Amino acid sequence: MRYAHPLLALIVVAFLGYSLTPYLTGGTRVPPTFALHHPLLLVHVFCASVAMVGAVVQLWSARGRRVPRWHRTAGRIYVAATVPAALTALVIGPATPFGPLLAVSNVALGALWLWFTVAGYRAVRRGRIAEHRRHMLRSAVLALSVIGNRVWTPVLFVVLDPLRDSVFQGGDEHYLWLVAGLGGWLGWLLPLVLVTLWLRRPHEETLSSVRRGREGHPV
Ligand code: HEM
Repeated sequence: MRYAHPLLALIVVAFLGYSLTPYLTGGTRVPPTFALHHPLLLVHVFCASVAMVGAVVQLWSARGRRVPRWHRTAGRIYVAATVPAALTALVIGPATPFGPLLAVSNVALGALWLWFTVAGYRAVRRGRIAEHRRHMLRSAVLALSVIGNRVWTPVLFVVLDPLRDSVFQGGDEHYLWLVAGLGGWLGWLLPLVLVTLWLRRPHEETLSSVRRGREGHPV
């Protein structure tokens, strides 16, 4: 666990280095499907990158019992970057060129990301620290889950290859839609389920009720 945060930071830096390159040089990996698609994608990619760095900073700084003062500043930057990143994802998500299964996943993920972030921000403004922590942990996990999506999709592409002929009769487009869709869903659903189970473990429940008691109001 000692090296978990530096390792996560390294993975995020490598992911951003790979992901951002085409967008910094005027290119794209996503063929546009409507007029504003590309500009909205650019807003999404750059805001989401700031949010991702913010997520690492926040997870790292919230390790101890007392969070440092800059946790607050970094948190505000995280929220300010996440809101436009999620809103743009909600617009370009349904119009994805990678099929309907991914379109639904994009909308569900974008809505949940926005929901947990706003709920976490509202909770901390009301002094509900335990609730803030739970929402923001889910929000950060969703932000970071995009890395998993980029791993699942190529793995599924290879593993499901026999289906290409047997089910799709060589129809590459529908096969790609299936792979992209499954990769999208697995990428965020699995980490969200895991973090939710982790937050419900008995020790955590006790910790939360102690925190709730200290805060003096129900969560
Ligand atoms: C968590 C909620 C997120 C949602 C719902 C979401 C949704 C989307 C959508 C809809 C696209 C266009 C591709 C498509 O049509 O399927 C996209 C592309 C992209 N997103 Fe996100 N995204 C999220 C988070 C992030 C984060 C945290 C990053 C971090 C940098 C990120 C980076 C990118 C990049 C780089 C692309 C361009 C695709 C590529 O070049 O591989 N996204 N995202």
